[in-house]
Parts: sequence; structure tokens; C-alpha cells
Amino acid sequence: MRWCVNNCICRFLYRHLPAVVLVSILIISANQVINFARDKSSPVCYKIVSPFAPKPGAVATKSSSSSAVVLAGGGENETDSILPNVEWTRARLDERRMLRIYEWTWPGTLWSSLMTSYNVCLATQGSIDRIPWIGEVSEKWLGPISLAVYVRNGDELWILSIFMSYMRRCSALFLQTVSVHVVVPAEFEVPDYANQSFYYDVMSDEHPCGQPHQYMSSLVVKFLQHEPVGLYPQNHMRNIARKNCPTPWVFMTDVDIIPRLNSSSMINTFYNSISSKCQKCAFVIPVFELDKSMPYPQTKKELASYASKGMARQFHLKIYKFGHWATNYTAWLSTNLQEESTKISHIVDSKVNHYEPFYVSSDDIPKHDERFVGYGFTRSSQVLEARVMGWKFFVLTPIFAIHWGLQTPQTIRSPSLPIPFHAMKYNIKAINQAKSSRRSQNLRNHVIYTDFVSELVARYNISVSRRKAQRKQVNPRQQ
Ligand SMILES: *[C@@H]1O[C@H](CO)[C@@H](O)[C@H](O)[C@H]1NC(C)=O
Ligand SMILES: *[C@@H]1O[C@H](CO)[C@@H](O)[C@H](O)[C@H]1NC(C)=O
Ligand SMILES: *[C@@H]1O[C@H](CO)[C@@H](O)[C@H](O)[C@H]1NC(C)=O
Ligand SMILES: *[C@@H]1O[C@H](CO)[C@@H](O)[C@H](O)[C@H]1NC(C)=O
Ligand SMILES: *[C@@H]1O[C@H](CO)[C@@H](O)[C@H](O)[C@H]1NC(C)=O
Repeated sequence: MRWCVNNCICRFLYRHLPAVVLVSILIISANQVINFARDKSSPVCYKIVSPFAPKPGAVATKSSSSSAVVLAGGGENETDSILPNVEWTRARLDERRMLRIYEWTWPGTLWSSLMTSYNVCLATQGSIDRIPWIGEVSEKWLGPISLAVYVRNGDELWILSIFMSYMRRCSALFLQTVSVHVVVPAEFEVPDYANQSFYYDVMSDEHPCGQPHQYMSSLVVKFLQHEPVGLYPQNHMRNIARKNCPTPWVFMTDVDIIPRLNSSSMINTFYNSISSKCQKCAFVIPVFELDKSMPYPQTKKELASYASKGMARQFHLKIYKFGHWATNYTAWLSTNLQEESTKISHIVDSKVNHYEPFYVSSDDIPKHDERFVGYGFTRSSQVLEARVMGWKFFVLTPIFAIHWGLQTPQTIRSPSLPIPFHAMKYNIKAINQAKSSRRSQNLRNHVIYTDFVSELVARYNISVSRRKAQRKQVNPRQQ
């Protein structure tokens, strides 16, 4: 220890070795305790009490007691009991034979009674990486939800099926209010799960409730063995979700858009008011991006105060400003802050093109054109057609919805799921592909959009001067 003589830190350590060790142990164990506590206080907990009474003897009561995956059939390792009760040859095809559609794969247990008491249903869709949001959506919306999920291969179907068991075990609201429709590519073949033992690993899984995103990630890492291919057919999925909402009104969203608490009731009330009574009216619900460090706003006033601090802003402001520009967030943030009742804040300027709001309307608004596959022009083309047909858009207050996280071009490029394809060596490539593919999908859809606009002009006999104006506003950089 000669070299130690001149070094005071070293001398200190040498003399007080037992004390130093003891303090380190204390620090480490304190850390463990804190981490443990943090794990338990997860921000979303799917144990909230459903306001809907369960039907006597329904699965709801049984499902919340055990923490293991509850299998419908009760068989130990029967793949049948994880997969939905579906006869896979009984599919409906879409118009272009691209997809096979299985409606009501997992129906909400209270669906029939919700249909008699609600005037509005939330229609939403997503791929497996996004659907973990559905838990939070159902706990905020508190009404019927039609969810269309696209799975590209057998691994994804397996993952979805296990995830559904998890959600139906952990959330009474999900089980009661969400009806799930499954869509697969036309050439999809259901694998022989029973023959491949690695699928059984799930049997011992006991993932805690309230962590759907973590659970989905772990399922993807474990079970996504075959690389999925193909673009996401957004507009097909929107139409499927919409058409399974037989209420007078539909609120159409993407699955990561989280509506304000109890907005189904607020819209229900508005539906019964005088101002809702017009034939071609659509009612926009403004969507804000919210900084992840903030709690979900309880009131419009709270949201406005976040917005004034830059913690909340127009959805996609930094990605594609025009998409929601016409909603005029500035105007909205100044109306009805006292929340007297649900009413119209203002009318949307009909001259702003490329508008793609999330709105509530009756379902006789034009359907989403299914030629658009992948990113770009999927919603704005539909809104354009609606406007050409004479639909007017009004912004509702004080209802709003949020998207977690302020988005920039960088944030939307990184994939939201871990990429398990045997490893990191593909990781960078996959991200680059995601980046360029978003752009190329956009370009492809832009070509379709040009046709789409010409067809509208012809079909609705729009005068040439207006057509020129539309051409001028076409912007190929739409997201
Ligand atoms: C069922 O699963 C258990 C545990 O995972 C395993 O030991 C058993 O061999 C499986 N049975 C069959 C018939 O595959
Ligand atoms: C299924 O299992 C049988 C017998 O274990 C085997 O002969 C067959 O090739 C397997 N099929 C597939 C698709 O793996
Ligand atoms: C939702 O709104 C309805 C009607 O305004 C009200 O009766 C109900 O208590 C509300 N539920 C929650 C959870 O706030
Ligand atoms: C938004 O509304 C305000 C009035 O509330 C108006 O002054 C402003 O011009 C509008 N902005 C746009 C882009 O329409
Ligand atoms: C189309 O519009 C023009 C002028 O805007 C009008 O003269 C013509 O009659 C219309 N054609 C049809 C089929 O409505």
C-alpha cells in the first residue's frame, strides 16, 4: 500500500473499508426498493372499476381474480384456447381481394346493451405495435369501441391472441366495451401452432396488469420469428372499424389518440341538442400532442394552460402542419373555458386544403378510398370528398383528445417496437428503411391522389377554376 500513502481518497478507503462497503450495500438496496415502488405505480392501471355493471355470470367477474393468462377453453396447452373461436375459412374479402376480414373476433361482452344506450361509437384501428393504447382509450372513452387490427403473419396473430387474453383479464372495461375485428392479408395461412413447441412458452407467463406496452414488447421479442411484410392498409381498416359501429354517429380515430374522460357521454348529450341537427355536418374533436411528463388534462382550462407553456400543441404541428391547421387551435383554446356545455366552438374554414381532422359524424359521410395503402393522403382524401359533397366541419368544445408525446420528424421515424430480427445488425437498416419507406409510400399515394382529385372533379362537375386551385395546393410532402 505504499503508493497509497500520498493519495487521500485511497487512504480513506483503506481505513474505512467496512464502513464503505456497508454504505454501498445500503445505497444499492434503497435503490431496489425505490425501483420496486416505481414499478408498481405504473401510470396506467387496468384495474379501474368499470361503470358498467357486469352481466350476471359473465366472464368479467372471473377474469380479474387470477393473474395467469385466462384461457377460454381451459385446456392446458391447447393452442385453440388462446386463438379466438374463428373458423378461418369463413372470411369476407375486401373489394380488391387484398385482405381477409374476420369481424367480431372478440366481441365486447356488453355490446348489445351499449348499442341501445349510446348514440356514438368510437371506431379505431391499428397494427399490433400500436394497439396497447386501446386500454387507455377504453378507460377514457367509457362507451362502445370498434377496433380493427391488422396482423400480417401467423406470429402476429399469435401475439394478438395472447395480448387479447391479457387485456380481457386485466381490464373489465376493455372486455365489456371493445369489439375486435381481425384483418389478415388474403394469402395468409394460419400456422400449425400446435406443432411448434416454442409457442407454448406463454403458458407460464404472468405479466402484471397495467403494463400493456411492456407486455406487447416482450411478446414481440419472444414470438415474432418471421419478418412481416406489406404495407398497412389504413383506409381498409378505417372502413372496417366504421362499418361495425351501428350507432347513429361514429368517432373515427387512430388507436393512439386518447379521448378526454367520458367524452362518449359528452357527445351523447350533444347529439340530443339542437345544434347537432343537420344532415351533412361533421364535428371535429381537436387532438393535442402532450408532453409525456404532464398528467392527462382533466379540463379544457388545464389543457389550455399546458398549451400556453408549450407542453401541448396541435397534433402533427411539426410533421405536417396543414393536416389540422384548419381546425384553428388558437380559436378553440379561447372558447368555452368554463365548460358550460358541449357545443360548437367555431366553423372550420373550408378553403384550407389537405385537412385531416378526427371528427364525429354519421356514417353516410364518404368512405375512405381503399386505393390508398400505407402513408399519405389517407384521411385528407376522404375529407376532401366529403367537402365536395357539401359536408361542413365544425369544431366541438370542450371535448378534446390527446396523443402522448410531442412529435417531430425524428420521433416518428424510430420504430415503436423493438426489432427482434435476430439482432441489432439489422436494426439500423430497418430504421433507415422505415424512414425512406414512409417517403416512398407518400410519393406513391400522391400519384393516386392526383387521380383521385381528377375523378372528384369529373364526378361532381366541379368548375375548372376550382380545379386549378386544388391542383395548386397539392403538396407532396404530406405525411
Ligand atoms: C404442456 O405444457 C407443459 C408446461 O409448459 C409441458 O410440460 C407439457 O409437456 C405440455 N403438454 C403437452 C401435451 O404439450
Ligand atoms: C408436425 O409434426 C409432425 C410430427 O411431429 C411432423 O411430421 C410434421 O412435419 C410437422 N409439421 C410441421 C408443419 O411442422
Ligand atoms: C359521465 O357522464 C355522465 C353524464 O354526464 C355521468 O352521469 C357519469 O357519471 C360520468 N361518468 C364519469 C366516470 O365521469
Ligand atoms: C383563427 O381564429 C382567429 C379568431 O379566433 C382568427 O383571428 C385567425 O385568423 C384564425 N386563423 C386561421 C388560420 O384561420
Ligand atoms: C356542369 O357544370 C357546368 C357549369 O358549372 C354546367 O353548365 C353543366 O350543365 C354541368 N353539367 C352537369 C352534368 O351537371
